[in-house]
Amino acid sequence: MFLTLEGVEGSGKSTLAQHLAGRLEQRGKTVLHTREPGGCLLGRDIRALLLDSGRAVEPRAELYLFLADRAQHVEEIIRPALGRGEWVICDRYADSTIAYQGAGRGMNSDWLQRLNDDATGGLWPDITFLLDLPEELGLERALRRNAESGLGKTEGRFEAETLAFHHRVRQGFLARAEAFPRRFNILDASLPPENVAEAAWNELIRHGFIEG
Ligand code: TYD
Repeated sequence: MFLTLEGVEGSGKSTLAQHLAGRLEQRGKTVLHTREPGGCLLGRDIRALLLDSGRAVEPRAELYLFLADRAQHVEEIIRPALGRGEWVICDRYADSTIAYQGAGRGMNSDWLQRLNDDATGGLWPDITFLLDLPEELGLERALRRNAESGLGKTEGRFEAETLAFHHRVRQGFLARAEAFPRRFNILDASLPPENVAEAAWNELIRHGFIEG
């Protein structure tokens, strides 16, 4: 089972991933919790290049770095885990490229879809949770988190983008959810984390991915 979590910065994706992983493991499932960018060894170096706020990266170079990270991650980590029958929970995946590089940076989404098909060998998630919340709120949470963990300088390049950019990204995600209603589930990420987790769990039951 391949599950991805998407949303603007600070929407609580990793908290939800940890919660779901724990709950699935209690049910005896083997879970691989991973993320993009940076879910494999090569990807950790790519992540550092991509998120460093002190580095200028051309939009096209940025796009190909995300795709390179994804191609390696799918081949080395995700496909093998799915092949072993595990649950893969991935914090961000190809829909992030379509929201950030597409809606955010203005690249053509059909072209991005084809590039992602190529980079992943056509691997798309079985289910995607979109943690939706107003971009102001998410950004505020993400900046607070970065300040607390000291990550602001090394990983702050996207948080430093304008509010208008993050607004376009949020709209991009919502448009994606509308285009793929069977795969996407929108969760209200402004609710307390326990409520978001409960809603996500109920969706997994409703889809028949786990027993109620
Ligand atoms: P990350 O720390 O993983 O996100 P978050 O702040 O939500 O925890 O940072 C990844 C950043 O990279 C995030 O700002 C979104 C961006 N991104 C893209 O622009 N395109 C992509 O394809 C992916 C996977 C991420």
